[in-house]
Amino acid sequence: MTWMDEFWRLNAVFLVILLSFSFQGAHCELVVSPVVPTLVKAAAGSTVTLAVSFSGAPDPTVTWFKENLPVVTWTIDSSSPPDIAPNYRQVLRMRKDGSLTFVNVTRNYTSNYTMKMTKSGLGTAVTYFTLLVFDNIQNVELHLQPDPVKEGIDDFTLQYVMSQGDVEQQMWFFNAKEIKTDSRYSVEQNSLVVRRPKRSDTGQYTVKLENPFSTVETDMNVTVLYGPDEPILEARPDRPFYLSGDSLSLFCQAEGLPQPTAVWVFGGENLSHDGVLNLTNVQTSQGGNYTCMVLNGQTKEQRQKNMTLNVYERPSGNPVCSVQSVNRNTGLQYHCLWWGGTPLAWLSFPALSNTSSGAGNFNLTVTTSDNLNRKTITCVAVHPVEQNQCNVTASSPVDFLPAVRTTFDLGEGKIVVTIQCVSEASPEAVVSWSKGSEAVISGSTYQISNNTTQLEIRYYNVSSFLLQKYACTCLNPLGSRRREIQLRGPSISDFRLFPNQARTVVTLTWEVPPASVVTGFDIQMKGPNLPSENHNGSQIRGSSNKYRTIQLKPGSARSADVFNLDPDSTYRFRVVPKARITEGKPSEVQILGPGGGLSGPAIAGIAAGIPCSLLFLLLLGGFIYLCVYCNKNKSSRQTRYPVSRAVEKAITAQPDSTPHNLLTGGLKSPPDYNRLHQTPSDRSVALPTFVPPQPVRVATTV
Ligand SMILES: *[C@@H]1O[C@H](CO)[C@@H](O)[C@H](O)[C@H]1NC(C)=O
Ligand SMILES: *[C@@H]1O[C@H](CO)[C@@H](O)[C@H](O)[C@H]1NC(C)=O
Ligand SMILES: *[C@@H]1O[C@H](CO)[C@@H](O)[C@H](O)[C@H]1NC(C)=O
Ligand SMILES: *[C@@H]1O[C@H](CO)[C@@H](O)[C@H](O)[C@H]1NC(C)=O
Ligand SMILES: *[C@@H]1O[C@H](CO)[C@@H](O)[C@H](O)[C@H]1NC(C)=O
Ligand SMILES: *[C@@H]1O[C@H](CO)[C@@H](O)[C@H](O)[C@H]1NC(C)=O
Ligand SMILES: *[C@@H]1O[C@H](CO)[C@@H](O)[C@H](O)[C@H]1NC(C)=O
Ligand SMILES: *[C@@H]1O[C@H](CO)[C@@H](O)[C@H](O)[C@H]1NC(C)=O
Ligand SMILES: *[C@@H]1O[C@H](CO)[C@@H](O)[C@H](O)[C@H]1NC(C)=O
Ligand SMILES: *[C@@H]1O[C@H](CO)[C@@H](O)[C@H](O)[C@H]1NC(C)=O
Ligand SMILES: *[C@@H]1O[C@H](CO)[C@@H](O)[C@H](O)[C@H]1NC(C)=O
Ligand SMILES: *[C@@H]1O[C@H](CO)[C@@H](O)[C@H](O)[C@H]1NC(C)=O
Repeated sequence: MTWMDEFWRLNAVFLVILLSFSFQGAHCELVVSPVVPTLVKAAAGSTVTLAVSFSGAPDPTVTWFKENLPVVTWTIDSSSPPDIAPNYRQVLRMRKDGSLTFVNVTRNYTSNYTMKMTKSGLGTAVTYFTLLVFDNIQNVELHLQPDPVKEGIDDFTLQYVMSQGDVEQQMWFFNAKEIKTDSRYSVEQNSLVVRRPKRSDTGQYTVKLENPFSTVETDMNVTVLYGPDEPILEARPDRPFYLSGDSLSLFCQAEGLPQPTAVWVFGGENLSHDGVLNLTNVQTSQGGNYTCMVLNGQTKEQRQKNMTLNVYERPSGNPVCSVQSVNRNTGLQYHCLWWGGTPLAWLSFPALSNTSSGAGNFNLTVTTSDNLNRKTITCVAVHPVEQNQCNVTASSPVDFLPAVRTTFDLGEGKIVVTIQCVSEASPEAVVSWSKGSEAVISGSTYQISNNTTQLEIRYYNVSSFLLQKYACTCLNPLGSRRREIQLRGPSISDFRLFPNQARTVVTLTWEVPPASVVTGFDIQMKGPNLPSENHNGSQIRGSSNKYRTIQLKPGSARSADVFNLDPDSTYRFRVVPKARITEGKPSEVQILGPGGGLSGPAIAGIAAGIPCSLLFLLLLGGFIYLCVYCNKNKSSRQTRYPVSRAVEKAITAQPDSTPHNLLTGGLKSPPDYNRLHQTPSDRSVALPTFVPPQPVRVATTV
């Protein structure tokens, strides 16, 4: 409202002037006064008059000044026309009362005007006007700087331009709400500045331009570009890890204007351009960092974010535990192995150490202590896909029996005795060998196997073996066991005889004492010649009164079969053990057949009998014998057992009162005579059954 203030100020001035002129008028003073407000506003092209009235003198001279330039001079009521400055003649007209009229006024007439009135002898009167000429506001345009606008640090400016017009007042609006200058907005000469624009500053901006004669509103839609924002990454299905072979999709999205593009990059390759990456049948090689790059195509702003894809695979098989001895048998090294898979399994022995662990293949060395003996140690194997474990138990060597085996080396002509000491232990026991008090060293006589469990001794003569005492010590970090071995000459124990039912075939079995050195056996017989002996003249012929060798068996043999025996004849068998050419003590004699005579105990019993009852006993015995013999002949011929009063231990040991069909059905079967060339490996299994006839038993017990 500045023009109003000015009006009132000028009004006051004129009032003073008017009063002073009136005062002077009373004394014939010249007085001039405006008849319109002294601030005059006019639209361009209109006609406007700065009207005055005067009094005090007739026909004064009037001069109008535009600022300090006199533009019109006229003496009122004179016959000559007003003197108007040449450039102003188009517009300015002088009225008879000295008022000034502007015809078709243009905006360059906006100015302060002063009217001076003079009359010779009466002095000067002055009055002032201000004329404001306004052009119509036309063709207003808004200009945006910069274009496009980006969210962030840059300010943006909206500036109006127009083809013509004089603006008395400008107003700015955002989405129809008036903008006032503050920290965010600044309204300047002909523009609006928006500081640090945000995406929320997107909208319609309006400028309203005003003067007293026209008002124009112009708007512009401003878009603040933004983004890409932080991308949002997602995997579907969402899991902490995937197994090889799974399928999944990765999604990437970011806010922005315009909508940003999203590219998935893995291993330097662009894999998907639309933000969706489908992975089917993933492999462990596809695990790793997937980067999503988002780009605002217009602002060229870009961002990236990683997503770690874990593709796992179970190690194959199961973890394997073992234990070894280290540091010269003073330490134990526990091993745990579960190799392969992705990632490697994490292995530890919590019972031994809760600080050390390893991936895939883990070893832990501990010093030996007694409480580790027979203690089960568990290896805990942790893998994202599966937890597993394995156990291992270290144990000191257990008690054991040395095994002795004798062979004959034909090339060297030496007897080879192999002693084996194997003691169950974990870690495997190492065996040390000694002879007497000296350690045994590998050489031509002694050979220790690579795994130390076996000692080979080679001599020409068996007597060389018998002089020494050998010892083996099985040792591991948890303990040791020692055994002594005193070798013995060739010998036989537990010689037995098993005839078949028809008594035509007999199986001989025997054992060898554990430390005995034996390379072979002679099977000897006394009795009638066998058909085989007659056909092969190679066997020793002789009278049935001398033992002759009928078979040779190797040192490993523990049984022999003799065929084609005459059930009615009597045979005597024995076995002679040999260490090469040295013969050992023959086995005791086993007798088969009727003419065998009385056994030792029978003789002793008879010898101890009461002499007076001898005759009676003989008669009674003969009678029973006859009765049984007749019975036997009557009942069956095919199961004709020879009457033998000298029955071996094996036979008397058999149960006697059970019928033999029950026996064979309920107990172990007799030797299989179709497979006699095979060595019965275990006598307790293939124990032949034989039921002695009742009369025999009666005869022997008498
Ligand atoms: C007023 O002046 C303008 C230019 O100043 C001219 O174009 C127009 O014709 C004039 N109008 C009249 C009525 O004289
Ligand atoms: C005012 O401006 C017009 C053009 O708009 C011009 O022709 C005229 O001479 C000017 N008058 C004066 C007094 O400057
Ligand atoms: C008139 O004079 C005053 C004071 O001298 C000045 O402020 C103003 O701008 C002038 N007006 C015009 C339109 O020239
Ligand atoms: C600006 O946007 C509004 C709606 O938001 C629309 O009505 C108007 O026409 C637009 N103005 C321009 C200049 O595009
Ligand atoms: C991969 O995508 C990025 C981001 O869009 C782009 O800059 C690059 O040129 C692309 N590379 C290839 C090889 O297409
Ligand atoms: C990705 O899989 C989705 C469904 O899971 C499917 O709609 C889309 O077309 C697939 N995209 C590609 C590139 O195979
Ligand atoms: C994946 O990115 C992470 C950080 O986000 C980094 O620690 C890791 O080493 C990266 N892996 C690969 C295989 O580059
Ligand atoms: C994203 O993964 C890539 C490739 O492994 C790596 O070079 C980059 O440093 C990772 N970026 C971030 C932010 O972890
Ligand atoms: C553990 O010991 C075994 C056998 O000594 C060896 O093969 C393996 O390489 C060792 N592992 C580590 C991780 O040292
Ligand atoms: C290992 O031993 C623990 C008990 O000591 C037992 O529960 C577990 O089943 C064993 N694991 C294996 C693989 O034998
Ligand atoms: C025993 O080990 C030696 C050398 O270490 C090797 O030459 C020999 O073949 C091995 N003997 C056996 C039976 O493995
Ligand atoms: C040790 O070596 C001997 C002969 O080389 C072999 O017969 C025996 O089986 C081996 N024992 C072990 C436990 O490996």
